[in-house]
Parts: sequence; C-alpha cells; structure tokens
Amino acid sequence: MRSAALTLLLLGCGGPPALPPVEPPPSIAPTGDADAGRALFADRGFGRSGFACADCHPGPSRGVRPAPSLSPWAGGEARFGGRPKTPAEALAACVERFQDRGPPSPTEAAALRAAVEPAPVAMPDDPAALYRSACQHCHEGGPAPAVVGRRWSPSGLRARLRRRPGLDEHMPAFDPAVVPDPALDALIGWLAARPPRLGSGRLSPSIAISSERP
Ligand code: HEC
Ligand code: HEC
Repeated sequence: MRSAALTLLLLGCGGPPALPPVEPPPSIAPTGDADAGRALFADRGFGRSGFACADCHPGPSRGVRPAPSLSPWAGGEARFGGRPKTPAEALAACVERFQDRGPPSPTEAAALRAAVEPAPVAMPDDPAALYRSACQHCHEGGPAPAVVGRRWSPSGLRARLRRRPGLDEHMPAFDPAVVPDPALDALIGWLAARPPRLGSGRLSPSIAISSERP
C-alpha cells in the first residue's frame, strides 16, 4: 500500500513518467516447424475471413503486399495499431482483426515465427503488372469482389486504397511507402480505363451501380 501510494505521489510530481515494467520475454518459442509455418502462412482456411497471411504480408511470392513485413516481429519487436505489443499479443490482435479467429496455439505461433524470412518485394514498374502483383490474388483470384472491368472514379479508388479499413472490412490500406503516389496514380488510371465487363460472372450491372454509391 505504502509503496503504491509513494509511486503515485512520485508520478504526480511532474517528472518524466516512470518507465513501464520490462515486458516479459516473447511468449512465442524461437524455434518451430518452419514447413508447418509456411503452410499456415498460405492457408486461406486458417481463419474465417478467407484471407491467408500471405494475402496481406510480404512473403515467398515476393509480391507487393499492404501489411508490414513480419521480420521485426519474428525478431521479437512487435506493434499493432501503432502501439508496442509482445509478439504473442500482436499476432493475436492481427488474426482476430483480419482473419476473424482466436489466437493461434503456441505450436502454430512458433511455426509461423520460424517460417518468417526477409521477403524482398519486387516492385513492378507498369500498372498492369502492379495489379497482378498487389491486388489480383485477393480480387479476381481470391475471396474479395472482382475489381477489373467495373466502373471506378479515380478519386473513389484513391480514397479506398489509402484509407484504413472499416471494422467490417479486410483490405488493409496501401501505405505510400509500399505503393508511392506516382505508381498509385498509374494503377488508378489503368483500372479506370479497363473496358467494362458487364454481364460476366459477378460483374453484374447491379454490382457496378452499387460500387458508385458514396
Ligand atoms: C487481411 C489482411 C491480413 C491478414 C490475412 C493477416 N494480416 Fe497480419 N497484419 C495486417 C495488417 C494491416 C497489420 C498492421 C496493422 C496495424 O498495425 O494496425 C498486421 C499486423 C500483423 C502483425 C504485427 C506486425 C508487427 O510489425 O509487429 C503480426 C505479427 C501479424 N500481422 C501476423 C500475421 C500472421 C502470422 C497472419 C496469418 C496467420 C496474418 N498476420 C494475417 C493484415 C493482415
Ligand atoms: C488482402 C486482400 C486484398 C488485397 C491485397 C487487395 N484488396 Fe482490394 N479489397 C479486398 C476486400 C476484402 C475488399 C472488400 C472490402 C473490404 O473488406 O475491405 C476490397 C475492396 C476493394 C475495392 C472496393 C470494391 C467494392 O466493391 O467497392 C477496390 C476498388 C479495391 N479493393 C481495389 C484493390 C486494388 C487496386 C488493390 C491492389 C493495389 C487491392 N484492392 C488489393 C481485399 C484485398
């Protein structure tokens, strides 16, 4: 009691705030089954959202991805939502937010950690290749709605690609450090110029109209 009161008193004195207690060591084992981890990394069935780690985070595909590289996390330095976290907390926060599932088991977490390798990203220099690298695997090739061949306003596209997703959404924002403005503008111009593909599959007129709602 007494020392707690003393701490409060000291904190109240206007000096620099006391440092928080040292974080416990990362609760994710440093070694795990890397092959199992690579399989989990690519598994769209791991959560309920339909997206795999590899859809969002850079990895073996070397494609452009919106989410951060996991190398610092595997090294024990983790953040989520701009705040420092333990690696286990950051992993749990991400899979809850983006995969709609509970925390991985310690074995799964250790396997995922062991599977992370520095992933050099190949930045394409033309917009069609950028779409194939950064977007197509989720859209035409994944659970997200098709995008190519629909009518888009350039400003609507730009806003969607740069903003943080709403709570019911899963597409992370593309940071300018990942897709710089000139490349984004070229991609938007390319998408806006795709001929409409009305009537084929999910690209029905009603969807094209709904995409023009604010
Ligand atoms: C639909 C996209 C998406 C999926 C799927 C996804 N993530 Fe993430 N993840 C993100 C985004 C975006 C962030 C950054 C969020 C923030 O900090 O606000 C993030 C952050 C993280 C972090 C914290 C990174 C750091 O710098 O400390 C970890 C760890 C993580 N994810 C691991 C995973 C793993 C492992 C999987 C698969 C089991 C996965 N994520 C699946 C989008 C995703
Ligand atoms: C991790 C998967 C993923 C990646 C990568 C991704 N998207 Fe998306 N995108 C989604 C999902 C899911 C939605 C539906 C809204 C949501 O959940 O965020 C969406 C929505 C959109 C929308 C609005 C669609 C609508 O029907 O209103 C556009 C436009 C879009 N994405 C374009 C792109 C472009 C361009 C890229 C590449 C630079 C890209 N997306 C990369 C998953 C992804």
